[in-house]
Amino acid sequence: EKGTYQHYMLKEIEEQPLVIRKVIQQYQEENGQLVIDPSIVEALNEADRLYIVAAGTSYHAGLIGKQFIETMAKIPTEVHLASEFGYNMPLLSEKPLFIFISQSGETADSRAVLVQVKKLGYKALTLTNVPGSTLSREADYTLLLHAGPEIAVASTKAYTAQLAVLAILAEVTAKGRNVDAEIDIAHELAIVANAMEELCDGKDEFEQIARDYLTVSRNSFFIGRSLDYAVCLEAALKLKEISYIQAEGFAGGELKHGPIALIEDGTPVFALATQENVNLNLRGNVKEVAARGANTCIISMKGLEMNGDRFVLPEVHEILTPLISVLPMQYISYYAALHRGCDVDKPRNLAKSVTVE
Ligand code: M6R
Repeated sequence: EKGTYQHYMLKEIEEQPLVIRKVIQQYQEENGQLVIDPSIVEALNEADRLYIVAAGTSYHAGLIGKQFIETMAKIPTEVHLASEFGYNMPLLSEKPLFIFISQSGETADSRAVLVQVKKLGYKALTLTNVPGSTLSREADYTLLLHAGPEIAVASTKAYTAQLAVLAILAEVTAKGRNVDAEIDIAHELAIVANAMEELCDGKDEFEQIARDYLTVSRNSFFIGRSLDYAVCLEAALKLKEISYIQAEGFAGGELKHGPIALIEDGTPVFALATQENVNLNLRGNVKEVAARGANTCIISMKGLEMNGDRFVLPEVHEILTPLISVLPMQYISYYAALHRGCDVDKPRNLAKSVTVE
């Protein structure tokens, strides 16, 4: 039940600190070590390449999961849209392992790929929030998200739970292959949960940002580089699906290859700056759009902030920043939709789980 909350989406956004703590607890042994069913770790270790298949927000989580797995466990990983994969299957490696990411476990596009993959005799792991869901039953292995029921059509807590489980999977797999993951995920996720709480406590600022930037706009852009780019894709999906404002996520470096032509006087451009190695280049992109009249809103990470940034995120481990940088974006989308009188939990034309191809 949504209790005192006006909408399920708001409730689910604010459950995220608890969900992250629950995920840690579910995958942690008493001695503090993270554990995952050894047969899953073995399956990852036997694979020469991982293929993540998903749709929508779960696909966006996959883009970040790829970075976790490649950085920590050093296994080459590809990420594919389920709806494209079936018709346009890439050349597979010799020993592929498939990872399906799906909040509902019922997405028809992903199910169709799983059927194909099983026919070819390959193994599959499903990350899902719903025990006993179709994708869970039909795969060889399942990892649960433990996010609790997600009711709002716009996915929020399932996304951050997916990222947390993917980070845990990456660290445990690294250990299984004697690779040093160089990060204590359980410890860093606990810091993430605290940072999320801080963001929830300060949500009024995100309501104000929604008012300042999105009250009259018909379109908007989200720019970032590296991990921030993947979060920008998710931010844009969130905003467009519930507020009906056209929203696009772009890689900062790609702007000059076309999208910058769309910038007009007053176009809202949200920029995420959480990654040190691309911070200065991203700032350059912000200047380029500002010079063409964009109304820019920079959200940066503590330690990387500069004069004029609209919001500075509390510091977490650099690779885990997507788990917290997405929160302002979820809130901004929520308030933009609310201010426009949209049906936040049940946006037009959309269903919670998409069971047709
Ligand atoms: O249940 P799934 O994770 O497989 O769903 C995938 C997409 O349909 C879903 O993420 C959709 O994009 C959401 N409405 C996004 O908020």
